[in-house]
Amino acid sequence: MRFEMTIIVVVMMVVMVRYCDGLSMNYYIMSCPMAEFIIKNSVNSALRSDPTLAAGLIRMHFHDCFIEGCDASILLDSTDDNTAEKDSPANLSLRGYKVIDDAKQQLENQCPGVVSCADIVAMAARDAVFFAGGPVYDIPKGRKDGTRSKIEDTRNLPPPIFNSSELIKMFSQKGFTTQEMVALSGGHTLGVARCSSFKNRLKNFDSTHDVDPSIDTQFMKTLAKTCNAGDNAEQPFDRSRNTFDNAYYNALQRQSGVLTSDQTLMTDPQTRPIVNGYAMNQAMFFFDFQRAMIKMGLIDVKETGQVRQNCHKIN
Ligand SMILES: *[C@@H]1O[C@H](CO)[C@@H](O)[C@H](O)[C@H]1NC(C)=O
Ligand SMILES: *[C@@H]1O[C@H](CO)[C@@H](O)[C@H](O)[C@H]1NC(C)=O
Repeated sequence: MRFEMTIIVVVMMVVMVRYCDGLSMNYYIMSCPMAEFIIKNSVNSALRSDPTLAAGLIRMHFHDCFIEGCDASILLDSTDDNTAEKDSPANLSLRGYKVIDDAKQQLENQCPGVVSCADIVAMAARDAVFFAGGPVYDIPKGRKDGTRSKIEDTRNLPPPIFNSSELIKMFSQKGFTTQEMVALSGGHTLGVARCSSFKNRLKNFDSTHDVDPSIDTQFMKTLAKTCNAGDNAEQPFDRSRNTFDNAYYNALQRQSGVLTSDQTLMTDPQTRPIVNGYAMNQAMFFFDFQRAMIKMGLIDVKETGQVRQNCHKIN
C-alpha cells in the first residue's frame, strides 16, 4: 500500500514537471543525469577566463531560436553546396562556439547521442545569464537538432536600425508581447555593439541641423570617437558590459542607447513606461526576462529529429 502510494506520487510528480510539447524540466534525468552539471561547468570555466563570452552565448541562443526555431541551426558549418546562417554578416557578435563544443564533447563521452546541441545552446545561455549576475531559472529540455541552416534565413533577425513599431511587429510574429520584447532587449545589458551597427546614427553628426534628437550630445561624440577606429570598433551597450543588471535601461533614460533599436524603446511612448519600470526596478526586469527567455527557448522547437553527434554537421 505504502509502496503503491509512493509510485503514484512519483508518477504525479513526473507528470507535473512535464512541460508542453514533449519537453520537460527533467528530460535528461535518466538518460544523462550529469548533463546540466557538465554544461554549467563548461560555461563557468570559459566565462571565468573570458567574461565577455556571456553576451556571445546569449546572442547565440537568441539567433538560433529566431531562425528556424531553437534547433542549433546556428552551429552548422557551411558546406560546398550550402552557405549556413553562421556565415551571415549577422554573425558578427556571435561568440562562444568553443564553449558549446567543449560541453558537447564531454556529453558525448558520458552519454553518446543523447543531449541535443539545441539544448546545450539553450542551457549555456541560461547559465551565462546567471554567471553574469542575472536571474537563475530552469528551462524545459528535449529539443532536437535541425538539419537546415541557410544564410538567407538570417533576414528574420531584427536589424539594429529597426524602430520600436518594427520591433514590436517582428517579435509579435514570434508570439512575444511588447513587454516581452523590451525585456529581451535587456539582454544588451551584456556585451558590445560594433560601429557598423550604429554608424547610421552618426551620419548627421557634422551638420548643424537634423541631428538625431534621441541621442545625448556627449554620447554621440563617444560613438563617433569609437567609429574613428573603424567598422569593427566596439562600444559597450552600458557601463557594466559583463554584469547582468538593469544599467541598459538606465542608459536609455540618459539617451545613451547604442543602437537605433535600443534608444527607440525610450522614444516610443508605447514602450517608454516599460523601460522606465525596468530602470527603476531590477527585480521586475529579472522576472520578466527569465520568463521571456523560457518562452523564446520554446519557439518552433522540434520534438522529433536527430541529436547531432557533432554540433557542426548533421549526422
Ligand atoms: C561570419 O561570417 C563571415 C562571412 O560573412 C565569415 O568569414 C566568418 O568566419 C563568420 N564568423 C564566424 C564566427 O562564424
Ligand atoms: C518605423 O519605421 C517604419 C518603416 O520605416 C515607418 O513606417 C514607421 O512610421 C516608423 N515608426 C515610427 C514610430 O517612427
